[in-house]
Amino acid sequence: MNYYSLEKLINLYDGYRKLFKIDNHNLLLLQLDGQRYLIESRCPHRGHALSTADMEGDQIVCPLHGYRFDLRSGALQHFTEEPCRSLRRYDIVDRDNELGVVLDN
Ligand code: FES
Repeated sequence: MNYYSLEKLINLYDGYRKLFKIDNHNLLLLQLDGQRYLIESRCPHRGHALSTADMEGDQIVCPLHGYRFDLRSGALQHFTEEPCRSLRRYDIVDRDNELGVVLDN
């Protein structure tokens, strides 16, 4: 398990989105209504990028087929074809005025 620094707190704002690639992890850090989320950057359905996805409340909506995931739990909320697994979420570590994540190698 290793800690990786992602972003300074001072750089965050509502609407913030940024992609990070750390080893084999592709992450998307975002802030919405003061809440920060760290999720996998690709849709669990068929892998479309979520970096341009719409947000509706605390849900993220994949632009390709409209699947919706709850940002707090990762749970699939709506699907139009076959169901898929939940969206992977990562715990954000708040340390020394920056955000980071602990990942398996
Ligand atoms: S790839 Fe995201 S909804 Fe299908």
